[in-house]
Amino acid sequence: MKNLLSMEYLSNEEILHILARASAFEAGEPSQLARKYNVANLFFEPSTRTKTSFEMAERNVGCTVIPFDAGFSSALKGETMYDTVKTLEMIGLDAVVIRAKEDEYYNELLEGINVAVINAGDGAGQHPSQSLLDLYTIQKEFGKFEGLNITIAGDISHSRVAKSDAIALEHLGANVRFLCPPEWAGDFEAHHDWDDLIEDSDVIMLLRVQHERHKVNKDFSKESYHAQYGLTLEREKQMKDGAIIMHPAPINRGVEIDTTLVECERSRIFEQVRNGVFVRMAIVETLLKGRE
Ligand code: NCD
Repeated sequence: MKNLLSMEYLSNEEILHILARASAFEAGEPSQLARKYNVANLFFEPSTRTKTSFEMAERNVGCTVIPFDAGFSSALKGETMYDTVKTLEMIGLDAVVIRAKEDEYYNELLEGINVAVINAGDGAGQHPSQSLLDLYTIQKEFGKFEGLNITIAGDISHSRVAKSDAIALEHLGANVRFLCPPEWAGDFEAHHDWDDLIEDSDVIMLLRVQHERHKVNKDFSKESYHAQYGLTLEREKQMKDGAIIMHPAPINRGVEIDTTLVECERSRIFEQVRNGVFVRMAIVETLLKGRE
């Protein structure tokens, strides 16, 4: 594995290797990297969790994190992504983590770039590190993927999390169902009400409405979205024993989820954040080790 760009390119073996290394890190094992590598995090879209989590993970596996402020970079002067990354390579970087608003921005980095590229989100495309931490959270809970009913509810067509998770979960044998308003299904087949889904879901994964990616603003009031598509207190009561609630966050409390459910017993939402550090340690280690 040279880069981590899309869950489409990962085999089940590669996924399971990363999850196993994440588990080893959680158990306190040290990094297997032979030397100190230089990495930078290039975030051209807002981030709280993903950027901080990568930075923590990079430090935990012994990397030197070189500061990069996308908001003050030469990208603002029109420099291309290729020239930006090539420049960092020449300065001595070994890996870059990138988030950008263009779908598949990484295509221009496939040739001529030698640093490892980790996609931390490309527009409405993919978000593989989030997907791997979601998989790790599910694996820790159920010990398997085969046969699990996973319901992903929210802004499906604009969500890179939904797309990455659906690809990987289906490859691993889970049964993925989508729930969203008809206009947000895109190319996916989706349910439009909870009735068929709420009682047999093992995992309910809620997504934020991606307002920034909508060309036309859909006029849902928060209350009407919550009532129709959100996880309400009444719906949580219908969930089966042992079923869990997930959300990649940021959360719009009271919209996709009732605010009191965010930290309820079924919720793994903050646990996902904690798991993210171990998973990103595994990602950084795997890619850099491949270069040794
Ligand atoms: C997601 C993202 O940026 O795609 N957040 C995250 O990385 N945890 C989801 C979102 O923005 O709604």
